[in-house]
Amino acid sequence: MIKTKDFLQELLDVIAVFCQTLDAQPPAYSYIPLETDEARVRVMKSRLFNELRAADLFGTWLKTTPELEVKAIMAESAHEEMEHALLLTKRIRDLGYEPFDYKPLPAQTAMFNAIEGLADTCQRMAGFSLAGEAVATYLTQKCLNASTVPDWIKQPYRKITQDEEGHGSMPQAVLQRYANTEERQDSARRAVAMRLVLFREYLDSLDRWAMGKDRW
Ligand SMILES: [Fe+2]
Ligand SMILES: [Fe+2]
Repeated sequence: MIKTKDFLQELLDVIAVFCQTLDAQPPAYSYIPLETDEARVRVMKSRLFNELRAADLFGTWLKTTPELEVKAIMAESAHEEMEHALLLTKRIRDLGYEPFDYKPLPAQTAMFNAIEGLADTCQRMAGFSLAGEAVATYLTQKCLNASTVPDWIKQPYRKITQDEEGHGSMPQAVLQRYANTEERQDSARRAVAMRLVLFREYLDSLDRWAMGKDRW
């Protein structure tokens, strides 16, 4: 077993390398390559689904999280994710679109179902919060910094990204504290690897679908 501090750094390095692979061609998820409002609304609906699913996951995990401080964070996160969902719902409605006619992409369903199966706190924190929120925040920052993304997209994400940055740093403290056996480190490492594989698949299918190149 390596020190928890070094273990955490190992995970962060893996995630940072993944993020860098998205630099050359920012995915549709970042809204950057999109040229029509129709495509942008498609992506926003897909990301609204993610917010709702995130709220579900945090809520679902409460009962099986014995660590009291982690449970408290999860409950708060479930609430925040619902707030994000409501912000995006309103944004989509205000533009005259229907937020809930969206059907999740197959890779998106697979990603969340796989995450839901993560059984312990370190796996969940590493695979869902650490890896997922870090990639999401990275791409959202890119969106906020891009002059080509219209302001009506950026508005809800200014608030969302503040919360998500918190979700990204919270799992670091949890992992430093609890990823203190060989077994926990190994399963958390695998959870991150799994999440990144599935995230890539989701991003790729969102690219194809949102930009109208393929059914999914
Ligand atoms: Fe969120
Ligand atoms: Fe979040």
